[in-house]
Amino acid sequence: MSYLLAPSILSADFANLQRDVEMINGSKADWFHVDIMDGKFVPNISFGFPVIKAIKKHAKKPLDVHLMIVDPDRYLQAFKEAGADILTVHIEACPHLHRTIQAIKALGMQAGVALNPHTPANLLSEIIADIDLVCVMSVNPGFGGQKFIPGIYPKVRQLKEMIAASKSSAKIEIDGGVSLDNATALLQAGADVLVAGNTVFSAKDPVQMIADLKKIQ
Ligand code: DX5
Ligand code: ZN
Repeated sequence: MSYLLAPSILSADFANLQRDVEMINGSKADWFHVDIMDGKFVPNISFGFPVIKAIKKHAKKPLDVHLMIVDPDRYLQAFKEAGADILTVHIEACPHLHRTIQAIKALGMQAGVALNPHTPANLLSEIIADIDLVCVMSVNPGFGGQKFIPGIYPKVRQLKEMIAASKSSAKIEIDGGVSLDNATALLQAGADVLVAGNTVFSAKDPVQMIADLKKIQ
């Protein structure tokens, strides 16, 4: 079972961002996961457009941008211009989700929808066929390095069934607390993409940790 690994830049060393971006370029990782937090949708502020542009300047792999912000519609074009390849919005922040997804795709990006841990999978039933990615939050969004919430496994399995039944091509991404301990179970439950922040960047040898994670079947 081959899957995609997306190290989360939130856990990088921001004083050595180019070094860390090049480390990921030279590793077996597939995407850059880029967390945008506004201090309103989540209780933390991460970084904005200048930093995304700086990452894009050096990145040789797609930018998977995860928006944890209210009213994301205001900024879709700006995220495209900053370099997003995949743009994910939270269902909890989008009253007109269908319109938002269409706008992301019209800008030439892949469209993702993220679900907070308490948000049920079936809220996606009418939109699953239109999206490229479902991001299942396995921590409450806002911070790196949090403890994985095991209650998300049934949701991953349910999403897998919904995707097959609707002939959707959406990938299932797991975001938060992913490690060597839970990666196998997550892939067996149906995950296609694993995000890993702390596990990669706090490892003694991040390139080796990425290779070890990618070896998991
Ligand atoms: C959490 C972010 C995650 C985070 C993952 O709000 O959306 O992407 O960076 O970090 P770890 O892998 O450390 O839980
Ligand atoms: Zn994220």
